[in-house]
Amino acid sequence: MSLLVSSVLALSSCSTDRTAATAPPTTTATTATTTSAAPAPQRVARLGAAVSAERLASAEPDAELVARHFDSVTPENAMKWSTTRPSATTWNWVGADAIVEFAERSGLDVRGHTLVWGQPSGNGMPPWLKETLNPADFTAAVLDGIDTQVTRYRGRVQRWDVVNEPFEALSGELQKNVFFERMGPDYIEQALRAARAADPDAELWINENATEYLPAKADALVELVRGLKGRGVPLDGVGLQTHLFLDAPLPAGAIADLIGGLRELGVDVALTEVDVPGGSANRDPTAQQALWKQVADECVAAGCVELTTWGVTDASTWLDSPTVRAGIPFLESFTVPTRPLLFDESGQAKPAFDIIEEALTRR
Ligand code: XIL
Repeated sequence: MSLLVSSVLALSSCSTDRTAATAPPTTTATTATTTSAAPAPQRVARLGAAVSAERLASAEPDAELVARHFDSVTPENAMKWSTTRPSATTWNWVGADAIVEFAERSGLDVRGHTLVWGQPSGNGMPPWLKETLNPADFTAAVLDGIDTQVTRYRGRVQRWDVVNEPFEALSGELQKNVFFERMGPDYIEQALRAARAADPDAELWINENATEYLPAKADALVELVRGLKGRGVPLDGVGLQTHLFLDAPLPAGAIADLIGGLRELGVDVALTEVDVPGGSANRDPTAQQALWKQVADECVAAGCVELTTWGVTDASTWLDSPTVRAGIPFLESFTVPTRPLLFDESGQAKPAFDIIEEALTRR
């Protein structure tokens, strides 16, 4: 298990209580529906998808599927500073604007992703920022970046993943990334306060990976949130990425317990990047479906407010891209498509979609 998890992290980084679900979404599939005559059932949590502006504008079915079936979009890469800030003095809003406009046309929420991401192997950080060595210059660039981006989308982006992956890949230690080194250990707090100042009405989130597989990391996340809330730092939600692996058994209750522990601290919780690639040894899609069900049931039972999938169709998954696979030994040897999402390559709903819909509309 740890090999699989560490491989993926190096790159990027039950019991069901039907009465416990709370926190209805701010939008529903009903408002998003443009092509379906039948009213969509009311969901108890948002269904979201990571999207790319290129695929939304293409002949691929992504745009129609998202408008019809989802409540929220997360720009997969278009709002990362590696995209929006090509140099210290220039901004690129092309993809981000297109996604926000698409969301507005379709009646969808936007989860802005992401402002501060120091994972060395991630694509959050433009080279020029990494090379800004002077702490004062670096801090100014970070706070200015948050202010500029959040202000631009004030009132149009409902929530921001302000800080992505603050912890080390495999432990509960705060990652000693360039933000930590140059701004100090309170860089998370500084970032959240800057975002709140730029848009007092946007929800502010932190987002972390692999907590469902790593109990010490989950505990550390809870303690981080406890500390931030205790100091009055503006924090509204915690995202659990939930990139899953068939070959790494997911302990029953791990997701529900963590959601419950976080909610007790007064934050919303969402599963923000769910995908379930087929296992290298197990090509049986029923195993994938069982994992989707486990995750969705625990999410809803524990009162999550959103379940977002990392992509729309199996053709749009990051896990099949050659560069991503090259960084993940588990996937390097994986010669078939991972098929980790709710719609197949041609846009047909897979059985997993019905499983998710059933879970999200359960009362
Ligand atoms: C991924 C994108 O999906 C890829 O297209 C890109 O090459 C790398 O980043 N955790 C995150 C996301 O928070 O931003 C990452 O997205 C996947 C892992």
